[in-house]
Amino acid sequence: MFIEKFRVDSPNVTYGEDEIRSLYRYETTEVVHEKDNVSGSYHWTVRPKTVSYEFKTDARVPKLGVMLVGWGGNNGSTLTGGVIANKEGISWATKDKVQQANYFGSLTQASTIRVGSYNGEEIYAPFKSLLPMVNPDDIVFGGWDISDMNLADAMARARVFEIDLQKQLRPYMEKMVPLPGIYDPDFIAANQGSRANNVIKGTKKEQVQQIIKDIREFKEANKVDRVVVLWTANTERYSDVIVGLNDTMENLLASMDKNEAEISPSTLYGIACVLENVPFVNGSPQNTFVPGLIDLAIHRNTLIGGDDFKSGQTKMKSVLVDFLVGAGIKPTSIVSYNHLGNNDGMNLSAPQTFRSKEISKSNVVDDMVSSNGILYEPGEHPDHVVVIKYVPYVGDSKRAMDEYTSEIFMGGKNTIVLHNTCEDSLLAAPIILDLVILAELSTRIQLKAEGEGKFHSFHPVATILSYLTKAPLVPPGTPVVNALSKQRAMLENILRACIGLSPENNMILEYK
Ligand SMILES: NC(=O)c1ccc[n+]([C@@H]2O[C@H](COP(=O)([O-])OP(=O)(O)OC[C@H]3O[C@@H](n4cnc5c(N)ncnc54)[C@H](O)[C@@H]3O)[C@@H](O)[C@H]2O)c1
Repeated sequence: MFIEKFRVDSPNVTYGEDEIRSLYRYETTEVVHEKDNVSGSYHWTVRPKTVSYEFKTDARVPKLGVMLVGWGGNNGSTLTGGVIANKEGISWATKDKVQQANYFGSLTQASTIRVGSYNGEEIYAPFKSLLPMVNPDDIVFGGWDISDMNLADAMARARVFEIDLQKQLRPYMEKMVPLPGIYDPDFIAANQGSRANNVIKGTKKEQVQQIIKDIREFKEANKVDRVVVLWTANTERYSDVIVGLNDTMENLLASMDKNEAEISPSTLYGIACVLENVPFVNGSPQNTFVPGLIDLAIHRNTLIGGDDFKSGQTKMKSVLVDFLVGAGIKPTSIVSYNHLGNNDGMNLSAPQTFRSKEISKSNVVDDMVSSNGILYEPGEHPDHVVVIKYVPYVGDSKRAMDEYTSEIFMGGKNTIVLHNTCEDSLLAAPIILDLVILAELSTRIQLKAEGEGKFHSFHPVATILSYLTKAPLVPPGTPVVNALSKQRAMLENILRACIGLSPENNMILEYK
């Protein structure tokens, strides 16, 4: 059974007008490797441990502005049009049926959580009913693009939406024109040059100042309370991380002042956002978050998150390999081919930008492989190859073909082949929504462990967004989790903790 919303009734939870407070017992374990005093040998001991936490969530949902870097791209125009269609209740004719706008593919808007059982029936509620979250229909969109094409024409260029939908959206999107963006041809493919007719002039420092000015003016003009900025522009090449250049906050800011060539546009947008205390999320694979920018974000306690939307092939991989390794099956070879014909594909046809994508896609099975020392020797890893080819004819409809070969019982081999066809931007747009909604929400949550004097926000490097990214950015020293089910559980369980609910343990003991 499905319910729209619920309230927790517990002495550990209070719902105030402005905030929700909860007391939460975090059940975990402490693992020690200790010497037995009698035998002298070492053994492993696991001690269950409980830590009390207090959570405090600001329940006042702000009016949110979202500024996209690369607003006129396929993702940017698809997301903007999709939200308008939902807000305006637009429906359109396809060759199959009359289609209504929806938010399918969004974790916050279209997935549910189990809240318990009632009269022997399982009860589910929307994920978004856990805590007060921004309604996507209320988001004001804006942003930058190095192409000055208006959003209606950009939507037509993207060739993602059905023509009847495009016709209805056009009047809403014609007047939406991206602000000039920071362009540096050294960081994206040369084939993007003809698009770059809308660029910010000046030194890197002046460019950062312009981005800050743009954010302030957007906020003022649209009367929004908070802004989140998200990079959905072209994939850049990796920047070199060099001691003295971008390794610390001080060096990065000094390098910006000196107009150093190796500071990428995406890092400049990141600097502007962090200086302005605006959350900044990177949806592409490049290393925007050089150590100096992470350092700056930590220093200024501004949320940063990334990298690279986890939309299709990698999402499947982080499910399938988790399932195989979890079932005691040993994946030994994973080969992934993609071809796509959109502008992203054209940009990725240059070796340096492709390399960023290859790196982002390649580490995704590491945590699952290292979790099973029965299947894999230390350091052993499946062969893992990723190929991406640009095929203009298929447009945004990306093809992903994967072959997984595994060793099974008694030396047998098992090969699974997947073929996935889908409009890439229809996968990415709902993920962008989740990223900005959850980034905003997580800035309203504060926590305090027992023994900590004061409430504090989550670490500015937003691990909580991992579910949505291929190469999750985590604070130094934090384990990277790629397995999709664990990432979802982490997110859901943290939000549950904020309203005093235990993690979903799936034990259903009441029926046993
Ligand atoms: N669609 C997906 O499923 C998916 C998944 C993971 C990652 N991504 C990443 O998202 C990004 C966007 O994808 P897309 O299909 O929308 O690409 P796109 O090429 O259609 O859009 C990118 C836009 O960014 C603009 N741009 C480039 N550099 C800029 C800059 N410095 N400042 C401002 N604007 C700039 C371009 O003009 C273009 O309009 C790509 O990097 C892609 O790899 C997409």
